[in-house]
Amino acid sequence: MPAVGIDDLAIYVPKLYIDYKDFAEARGIDPQKLEYGIGIKKMALADANQDSACMAANACLKLMQRNRLHPQDIGRMYVATESALDESKAMNSFVVGMLEQIYGEGSFEHAGGIECKFACVSGSYALYDNANWIRAEENSGKAAIVIVSDIAKYDIGSSGEYTQGAGAVAMLITKNPRLMAFDQKVASTIIKNEYDFYRPFGKETPLVNGTYSNLLYLIQVRKAFDSYKERAIKSGLIKLQDGESITDHIDFFSVHLPYRKMGEKALAYLLRHEWRHLPRWKNVIKEIGMAEPHPKDQRGTIESILADTEFMKADEKFRRAFMQTSYFNEVFEKKMASSLEASAIIGNLYTASMYMGLRSLLEFEYKKGTDLEDKRVGFGSYGSGSSAMVFSGIIQPDYKEIVKRMDLEQDIGERVKLPIEVYERLHRNEKTCSEFLARPHKEFVLVKVGGLTADKAGFREYVYVK
Ligand code: COA
Repeated sequence: MPAVGIDDLAIYVPKLYIDYKDFAEARGIDPQKLEYGIGIKKMALADANQDSACMAANACLKLMQRNRLHPQDIGRMYVATESALDESKAMNSFVVGMLEQIYGEGSFEHAGGIECKFACVSGSYALYDNANWIRAEENSGKAAIVIVSDIAKYDIGSSGEYTQGAGAVAMLITKNPRLMAFDQKVASTIIKNEYDFYRPFGKETPLVNGTYSNLLYLIQVRKAFDSYKERAIKSGLIKLQDGESITDHIDFFSVHLPYRKMGEKALAYLLRHEWRHLPRWKNVIKEIGMAEPHPKDQRGTIESILADTEFMKADEKFRRAFMQTSYFNEVFEKKMASSLEASAIIGNLYTASMYMGLRSLLEFEYKKGTDLEDKRVGFGSYGSGSSAMVFSGIIQPDYKEIVKRMDLEQDIGERVKLPIEVYERLHRNEKTCSEFLARPHKEFVLVKVGGLTADKAGFREYVYVK
């Protein structure tokens, strides 16, 4: 089987942002809660002339121009999003329309693709399906592009409001990739009908059960991880020695990041699960100085665990103490911290958050001087509703060619800090496309929605601003 994976990736982040201190003051929240409790300093916001489709097109154009790709080199373009613009017309069709303004009318006609939806996890399914399309040699030598693009928008005044953000990541999927080859036959999924976070038709912001969604994320990723572990051991991909955990064989972790702190919590949950039956756990417990609590009903439902307030309180205490241990911190600093840098200055990107995390991991580990060749990255992808996918990939010998030019600040460009009143007007959709706040430069923007005649109702018109 040929090596297939991510050859290169490009990002697009809108220029507007709100600062956590301004936000905290406006909402009467301690700024330390946002900086340390959530892990946010700047939240990116889409401008009045931007939507998830033009962010996707902007990321894709960067990817194509940088790699001197022609539409003929691309056989498939998938867009994974939970910020759909139409109930029927797929987002990739808007993206193709924008790109054809540059590459010529009909230049993508030979290609195919769809929009994918499953909250924040759909990008991972899109990557998996497209990698298999190439492995099956259905691709006639062409590459696939998977774009993850979202605007995370919550109600003003809600606890989700400080977990907003916007942006897109476009990934080039090829045979013999320069950046990362996916490990084969180990990707594992789990699916269950849940209502932890959802957005009924016509509603612009989601309905969220925050605490439940946090716990469900941890449990579902852990279950998918168990299945990954079983497959990795069975297939011989990973060979465990006595006293080892499979996490010892994963060099870096990149997980779904609705906010920075959630990454840390996910790692803590996973390590507790993996380590509690190993000899090293005795030393961990000794450092913590308390026994690990257990719920009264150990095989109960998530609801029964959440209702067990005594356990929940004790478990919170234990989790915090575990996250202070040298054991946790060593793994966190070495294997995860770099993947969280971007999240703190951009915010939640839903489908794109884990892939922005990968990009962050590569850039900041490279800048630290870490040799990334042959290192395994383990991914924990979660989508509310709910499904999780756990998979892994190996960083390839040519990775430096891609990673050396990564510069997050330069890629985002000069940013515009918004006063809270302006942000609120933008949030309430009080501005038209022509009332944008950051001057566009070399990018696609939305210029009109609807149209003058009834037969153009719902049309979205975009232009490329040179
Ligand atoms: N200084 C430092 N930290 C503080 C603080 C302060 N003054 N005040 C509170 N905190 C910490 C809390 O201790 C908590 O940390 P912990 O998670 O380590 O316990 C953290 O800030 C969050 O505060 P908390 O009050 O528990 O949560 P919240 O009501 O602010 O809600 C979410 C947080 C994530 C539930 C909410 O933002 C949400 O619903 N988000 C959308 C859904 C989501 O992202 N789900 C994730 C899974 S997909």
